[in-house]
Amino acid sequence: MLTQEQNDALTRTSAGTPGGKLLRSYWQPVALSTELPPGGVPVSVDVMGEELVLFRDDQGRLGLLDRHCCHRGTDLSFGRLEDGGLRCLYHGWLYDVTGCCLEQPAEPKESTFKTKVRQRAYPVVEKAGAFFAYMGEGEPPEFPNYDFFTYPHEHLHAAKVFVDCNYLQANEGNYDPGHVGFLHRTFEADRRPGLKFGNLHRVGVPETDEALIEPEETPRLETENTDFGLRIFQLRSGGEGRKYVRVTIFGMPNFSVIAGPQGGDGHIGIWHVPIDDYTHWRWHFALRRDAPLDATSRVVSSRKNSNEYESEFRLRRKKANRYLQDRSTMNQNYTGMGPNFNTHDAFATETQGPIQNRTREHLATTDVALLAARKLMLKAIDDVKAGREPLGVLRDPAKNDYRLLCSFDVLAEESIPNTDLVHLIAERAAVAAG
Ligand code: FES
Ligand SMILES: [Fe+2]
Repeated sequence: MLTQEQNDALTRTSAGTPGGKLLRSYWQPVALSTELPPGGVPVSVDVMGEELVLFRDDQGRLGLLDRHCCHRGTDLSFGRLEDGGLRCLYHGWLYDVTGCCLEQPAEPKESTFKTKVRQRAYPVVEKAGAFFAYMGEGEPPEFPNYDFFTYPHEHLHAAKVFVDCNYLQANEGNYDPGHVGFLHRTFEADRRPGLKFGNLHRVGVPETDEALIEPEETPRLETENTDFGLRIFQLRSGGEGRKYVRVTIFGMPNFSVIAGPQGGDGHIGIWHVPIDDYTHWRWHFALRRDAPLDATSRVVSSRKNSNEYESEFRLRRKKANRYLQDRSTMNQNYTGMGPNFNTHDAFATETQGPIQNRTREHLATTDVALLAARKLMLKAIDDVKAGREPLGVLRDPAKNDYRLLCSFDVLAEESIPNTDLVHLIAERAAVAAG
């Protein structure tokens, strides 16, 4: 349970708020590469309550500017791409990608006023099929060298989906493993043994052994503090003398990594980025290390073929249609809302309310990771207020190494320490990467 003040600090993210300053201390995804291909037209993007325009100038340079012209506020996303910048249609002021005003053609020739104004501009880079922006103060930190950003694009799938609630409650679902056996449960007869989210690693047991676990068995949770956030161990019995360990990641402040349905060896990086305090984008970067992610992989094809999406970025089932719940199908799956995990998660978190009232919750044993994450976030908000660098903001390029930031499932001999498992699997990933 949080106080109202703590809940506000964590969930309010517009410019100048404590939570907003925290989120702005890190690079955040703001648009997909497919939304702004080379030669494409300017794109409106809304991030943390700020209205921005993303564009490529006539040299191909990337810019992310305040969408409202600093002269008198006209929308620059309608502007002309010419003369090394983006030109406002109202009086022709021209801005470059850094926000410098290059021309004010309606002003007297001798005027130097253009040197005195500046359009707000944020650094932006293109990585792994998306554009990432730094919207904080001062110099941007190092761009984190997560493995999603280092593989060829055939191994990656970047996507986003609209979620109709505050970012935090949806992100908290990523480190709440207790819900998986309920919300996402299926009663299909062909359910395979083990969890089968992705590749099952084996350490100290034969390579062919399957995990003898009950997917609905609630795991025991342990957390480990790291320099990026938390490593979360979900521990289950894996049969006689064995354990089944699933490792997931909470990365400060709105990032998680989950061994997901990418197939083969890999994992999925997830960011929940506020559009405003009541809606957000769930960003998803799936990486398959051992093979390209072709169109038949579940993570790619579920988007293209599924009738669970009403458009590229929006789910068909939503609050307004009660998630099309069909109670006659509740003998097939737990929710009666079809097979799509994103839909289940959207239902569970959107119906908590636009901003979950955390002064009325009753946290239990399964919420230990969530509590640990909130503790880190509240401490980081205090750090930012006091002018200190929050956890996970990286300034030293020599430390830009995230090989141990990985999520996986492993069946292991019981006596092997969990930390050893992390190192072993990370080594395998490094070998797979060549
Ligand atoms: S409002 Fe943009 S140039 Fe006047
Ligand atoms: Fe979920």
